[in-house]
Amino acid sequence: MTTVNSEKLSSARFAQATDAFVEVFTASVDFDKRMAEQDIQGSIAHATMLTKCGILTDAERDDIIKGLSQIQSEIESGAFVWSIKQEDVHMNIEARLTDLIGIAGKKLHTGRSRNDQVATDIRLYLRSEIEQITAQLKRLQRAILDLAEQNYNTIMPGFTHLQVAQPITFGHHLMAWFEMLVRDNERLQDCKKRLNVMPLGAAALAGTSYPIDRFLTAELLGFSRPSANSLDSVSDRDFAIEFTAAASIIMMHLSRFSEELILWSSAQFDFIDMPDAFCTGSSIMPQKKNPDVPELVRGKSGRVTGHLMSLLMLMKSQPLAYNKDNQEDKEPLFDTVDTLINCLRAYADMVPHISAKKQNMYNSAKRGFATATDLADYLVRKGMAFRDAHEVVGLAVRLGIETGRDLSEISLAELQKFSALITEEVFDYLSLEGSVAARSHIGGTAPDTVQLAIKTARFKLEL
Ligand code: ARG
Repeated sequence: MTTVNSEKLSSARFAQATDAFVEVFTASVDFDKRMAEQDIQGSIAHATMLTKCGILTDAERDDIIKGLSQIQSEIESGAFVWSIKQEDVHMNIEARLTDLIGIAGKKLHTGRSRNDQVATDIRLYLRSEIEQITAQLKRLQRAILDLAEQNYNTIMPGFTHLQVAQPITFGHHLMAWFEMLVRDNERLQDCKKRLNVMPLGAAALAGTSYPIDRFLTAELLGFSRPSANSLDSVSDRDFAIEFTAAASIIMMHLSRFSEELILWSSAQFDFIDMPDAFCTGSSIMPQKKNPDVPELVRGKSGRVTGHLMSLLMLMKSQPLAYNKDNQEDKEPLFDTVDTLINCLRAYADMVPHISAKKQNMYNSAKRGFATATDLADYLVRKGMAFRDAHEVVGLAVRLGIETGRDLSEISLAELQKFSALITEEVFDYLSLEGSVAARSHIGGTAPDTVQLAIKTARFKLEL
């Protein structure tokens, strides 16, 4: 006679109890209980649909909804007992529901499987997290706009190859950060479109023989439509990969901001003051003020990109349809969400307290012959070929280096030795103010243009 392990899921099929280690090894409840709210939400919609389709009675539906609401309260108060024996969030909730309401609890799983259930839960979960992320992203964007506004005419050196290239305004530099975040937000919203499709009804893989109404369930859960293919529904995790890719790009951007903040707050640059509340001291060197928050964010960008790689490798080569491999999608996904929200939050809190050391920025722009291109452009406007102008300016820069002066500090007579085309008004072009003001086309660094860019950006952000 075979013995029946009565505690085991799908127990009747099994002659032996699950190995104790395997039970722990295969359980996911420790991490997927995070989706409890979405699991309950999905079950209520499913039960409502089953009732509308005549598969459950009104009384059964009412019991189910009442039981699930109680479970929700138990989870919120911490009274709910999670059990490894019940493997995952779905089985834990269903088992408790059956404890509470009896037979109707056992009917809830009609016409569905954990395969379409889990796919639905993750989508619901991620949809609501994307809203949180978008909110933090917007807070950061507002903070950047405010700082840019305070610095729309603050002159600093712009760099290429980390060498002083041309003068720019700090506001313009910050608006470059802002543009990265605009694209990030677009990517998240785009990801949400493909995410917001409902797998429920695909059941284990082939659909169900019950007369279900998938459009109704989709509507109840706020999905744009039911998914088109049952096999794809239970196995697709593209949305998680897309989201993690979008998150990796955001983190990559934050790591670039971080790198600049770290450089700018060093004694060598000394362009900004970082708020004390976001820095720490050293246990041994009393003079130190370390930019820990940007450094940590820079480090965490690697962690999120790692999660993207995990998810890609997880899905690679999986045959249709659902495989247990997919249980491994959750930890990288959840950690991506947490890391991203925390990093965005830290940045949104920190940026409003960053202040520009305007004089240092200005002096630094003066030191690197940042207006050399302006002198060349001036000569071209006077009729010289660009290559010849390049040569003339090279000579002027050499004189500047040899005599320790910026181009604007070299006298007119000395400049005229390099080219007779040069006249008094050249100094309008050699000044840092003149240089930035001249770049007033759309996308340029002129203070007026930056002010307009900030205004436009603020308007679009609040649309
Ligand atoms: N815990 C599982 C997961 O995360 C739920 C689906 C399990 N389905 C199954 N047939 N074993 O993917």
